[in-house]
Amino acid sequence: MCGIIGYIGNKQASDILISGLSHLEYRGYDSSGIALMHDNKTEIFKAQGKLINLIEILNSALPTYKASHLGIGHIRWATHGLPTTANAHPHTCTCKKLTLVHNGIIENYKELKEELIQNQKNTVFRSQTDTEIAAHLIAYEYGKTKNLLKAMQNAVKKIKGAFAFCAIHNDEPDKIVVAKRNAPLVIGLGEGENFVASDIPAIIEYTKKAIYLCDYQVGVITKDDVKIYDENDVLVQNKIEYLPFEAMAISKMGYKHFMLKEIHEQGDVVRNVLSSKILSPVEKIKLEEFKLDKAKIKNIKRIQIIACGTSLHAGLVGKYILEKFAKIPTDVESSSEYIYRDTIADENTLVIGISQSGETADTISAIKQVKKENSHVIIITNRADSTMARLADSLMPVNAGIEVSVAATKSYMAQLMSLYILAIYLYEQKGLNDYDGEIINLKQELIELPNKIETLLENVSDIKEVARKYANYKDFIFIARGINYPTALEGALKLKEISYINATGYSAGELKHGPIAMLDENMPVLALLNKGIVYDKVLSNCEEARARQAKLIAVTNYVSKKDEGLFNDIILIPSVSDTLSPAVNIVVLQLLAYYISEFLGKDVDQPRNLAKSVTVE
Ligand code: AGP
Repeated sequence: MCGIIGYIGNKQASDILISGLSHLEYRGYDSSGIALMHDNKTEIFKAQGKLINLIEILNSALPTYKASHLGIGHIRWATHGLPTTANAHPHTCTCKKLTLVHNGIIENYKELKEELIQNQKNTVFRSQTDTEIAAHLIAYEYGKTKNLLKAMQNAVKKIKGAFAFCAIHNDEPDKIVVAKRNAPLVIGLGEGENFVASDIPAIIEYTKKAIYLCDYQVGVITKDDVKIYDENDVLVQNKIEYLPFEAMAISKMGYKHFMLKEIHEQGDVVRNVLSSKILSPVEKIKLEEFKLDKAKIKNIKRIQIIACGTSLHAGLVGKYILEKFAKIPTDVESSSEYIYRDTIADENTLVIGISQSGETADTISAIKQVKKENSHVIIITNRADSTMARLADSLMPVNAGIEVSVAATKSYMAQLMSLYILAIYLYEQKGLNDYDGEIINLKQELIELPNKIETLLENVSDIKEVARKYANYKDFIFIARGINYPTALEGALKLKEISYINATGYSAGELKHGPIAMLDENMPVLALLNKGIVYDKVLSNCEEARARQAKLIAVTNYVSKKDEGLFNDIILIPSVSDTLSPAVNIVVLQLLAYYISEFLGKDVDQPRNLAKSVTVE
């Protein structure tokens, strides 16, 4: 959700800023902009829409900007104000000497604006953003102190909300001043040059040494030095970290979109997650990442899973398997709901935070809240370097590899696998008895899963055909029961996100309690029909939908000859147990959403209004 970058050194700043922003585009793509300082003047370039528009503007500008060795940049996911050029960052103060980029939300910007208007009647407002108010506020403080560091320190004391700021000032042309609260900011350390960014991929090409700025700290970055002050203005030394990343050329590897590539990587993702954990069906799971000992595991009285979006859906599958195998009552809750109510967690509660990015603001707040209760917090994330990872008592990195497509696919698969591992691990550590060999069978099935996923991916013609047939429907319903209910939710979310079709997931049994009123021949209903305990029930719910003339699609590993006629279309999946079926069914639903979106000519990888990392509450 917005990405910021800054550079100071001897190289051409514009190149570094643009390259950095290209690695931050996952955080938003409503607009972008850079500010370049040279000869005590700052030149600003901004463009609405994707970064490519900014690059085009730079290409047609006078090349004088190339002489700049100091600059800041921004990529925006709009919060306050339309995604226009005027609202694009960087923002400036009235005299345009101070320039600011910001990631976050300033909650009290209206009050601050009122105060500014009172204090400086001639303030010129040029945008509808909360960020511009911060620029004016810092400039106002600068007027009093003539010192950019002091001005930033004074300003942030008055600001409520979340922010990562980079500010430059024409009268102090040798520095970038940065500050943060509840938004990520990493300072990259170079030789005769320094960097700052919202995330490591933006700077990893240039340095592997970095400092993470902490909340309430303010930093002054020059080309040869970084000084960090805490909220009491005491100079502090933050630990220098060596970044565990390689600069990588992120490529589609011949696929038309990153999403399709990432869907196709899922066999390997499963192999990767399972490889060091399940060595054979009869050996116990190894989970060195989990830091609770056997005695403490036996004391766990409840599990709370906190996550958002796709990660929340993985958590819902987790509930089924944790309760089934670990026999521990498990609640799953959206982080944004968890934060603002009186939740009950204590030292006997295991809290599982799930997040692809590890930077989702709602989940970070929920985790911070629960950490005060002494609960053990395990974080399942694709980013072992993230804010959430650093809050973890136990860290389970899922190592799905960089996921570029905004719609999460392979990270969901990796999260599912981590939850299966965790459930079996807890079961084994509690010494429960596998009387009917269910655990051994599940481990065997997990080992075989990558091949099943790859078999499915080899022949997608049925899925493509269904996508083509239903792409122009305005609404879609996904139904399932039991462990696949979350799969229905996730399938609907995928379709909504990338095709903008109004898709909803329901538990099949709930259909008759209201949603059935919407059914007619214009409403496709997709049923997840797995041979297992709820098969007959889902089939009956399909009959009910059919009786209302809905178009029926089955995604199934079994359908009898006598029932075939019930469905308009059938997508057959490899045979898999009920317990593991979410991991196979979801691949079909991801592909269906992908092909519908592609058929409709939508922007598959960067759907409108979304961002990959949601760093505002
Ligand atoms: C997934 O397709 C979505 N783009 C979104 O729902 C995402 O899962 C959600 O924002 C949570 O993100 P996280 O996993 O990085 O915390």
